[in-house]
Amino acid sequence: AKAEIAVTGLAVMGRNLARNLARNGFRVAVHNRSQGRTDALIEEFGHEGDFTAAADLPALVEALEQPRKIIIMVKAGEPTDAVIDELVPLLDQGDIVIDAGNAHFLDTRRREKALSEKGLHFVGSGVSGGEEGALNGPSIMPGGSKESYAALGPILTKISAHVNGEACCVHVGPDGAGHFVKMLHNGIEYADMQLIAEAYDLLRRVLGLSPAELADVFREWNTGDLESFLIEITADVLSQVDPTTGGAFVDVVLDQAEQKGTGRWTVQSALDLGIPVSGMAEAVFARSLSGDVVRREAAAGVLPGPASAKVDVDRDAFIEDVRHALYSSKLVAYAQGFDAIRAASEQYDWNVDLGAMATIWRGGCIIRARFLDRIKEAYDRNPALPSLLVDDYFKDAVANGQDAWRRVVATAATAGVPAPGFSAALSYYDGLRADRLPAALIQGLRDLFGAHTYKRVDAEGTFHLEWSGDRSETKS
Ligand code: 6PG
Repeated sequence: AKAEIAVTGLAVMGRNLARNLARNGFRVAVHNRSQGRTDALIEEFGHEGDFTAAADLPALVEALEQPRKIIIMVKAGEPTDAVIDELVPLLDQGDIVIDAGNAHFLDTRRREKALSEKGLHFVGSGVSGGEEGALNGPSIMPGGSKESYAALGPILTKISAHVNGEACCVHVGPDGAGHFVKMLHNGIEYADMQLIAEAYDLLRRVLGLSPAELADVFREWNTGDLESFLIEITADVLSQVDPTTGGAFVDVVLDQAEQKGTGRWTVQSALDLGIPVSGMAEAVFARSLSGDVVRREAAAGVLPGPASAKVDVDRDAFIEDVRHALYSSKLVAYAQGFDAIRAASEQYDWNVDLGAMATIWRGGCIIRARFLDRIKEAYDRNPALPSLLVDDYFKDAVANGQDAWRRVVATAATAGVPAPGFSAALSYYDGLRADRLPAALIQGLRDLFGAHTYKRVDAEGTFHLEWSGDRSETKS
């Protein structure tokens, strides 16, 4: 029988996805631009299932039953376009092309439009979970048409991660919705990691805890509300010993965080949507600062900080405070992330089910966490929830921890330890709950220097003050 699905692009993610499909009983056709990878896959893992090796794209297309389903797993950007351009003339009406890489959602919208005009389905699908997830069950975020999902759904849900019997895969929405949600997943991943890094840095520099001691703290945290994959692997990384020096592994790693771009895309897209994703923005900025060697070298040892990073705090109380700060800041990052998804869903008419996004992130993906159950419940209680922060459960969680959160931000400032994620999150929280914001003054300034007008609290309409004249007010 012909293959049910194909994968082209057999680097580690593509290879593992193909193996996952085969292990789940699907007949898989595989192809890679350089044949070596295809041969290696068949040789090493051919026994895992029903593979058909294809030497080129025409052979791959030929190997498939119709409607064809072809997963592209190559680099985002031009390499993806190149494969699509080569594939399209070989396909028939109703065939489905799936881009499972980290594409920009606007590229996905463009490709979906182009292919749908040719009678083909194009599905931009987020796939999260790294190599391990791709092999054993990732979180899958497919976009594209309903018809395409009717054909793909049974396959994708089968190979996805499952939590309590529920698949971590759902049709996110039309065209670029899946890739947008995957991008946001990565933005949240950036924020999560930045907050974890700040917690580590504060505990280490203020309390003087060793990496091994810190590993224990994170291990302990992983038994409570913070339980998540990223906290778990933080304990793992912190307890790792460097085989060369015998010291802590974390101390021999160069402190310059790299980024492939999805975090930056998230922030750029959110800026366009007008949604403040300060947690993710600070995370991207912190990575950029870490990599800015020239300015760091010019400033280190030159710009003075406080006399000592040691602040007089009780060890256990401070650890507990930092745990609260981490949880509350994390909650803000998720609230901002879900806001961005809601805003994009409105702008592009995607009709994304926010609660379902929390559900499919509970397993398989990098940000999988116990706390996503709480998010799902919050949207079950109120699908039109304006912000996660006003849901009763989360409101109480932050209320319980806010004094601790404030102490941590204050301590960070006093000790001279950067905590951009914790402090930006707290500022967002305080801004959100404020009765009045100083935006009124900004409006006054704008009207004074540029006649940009303002609105009044006590009357409808748009007003301007004759600042350089008699300062009378005119209504426009
Ligand atoms: C995932 C990850 C993955 C991403 C890496 C690296 O969901 O499996 O998000 O898609 O590529 O996390 O991202 P950076 O190199 O930008 O840190």
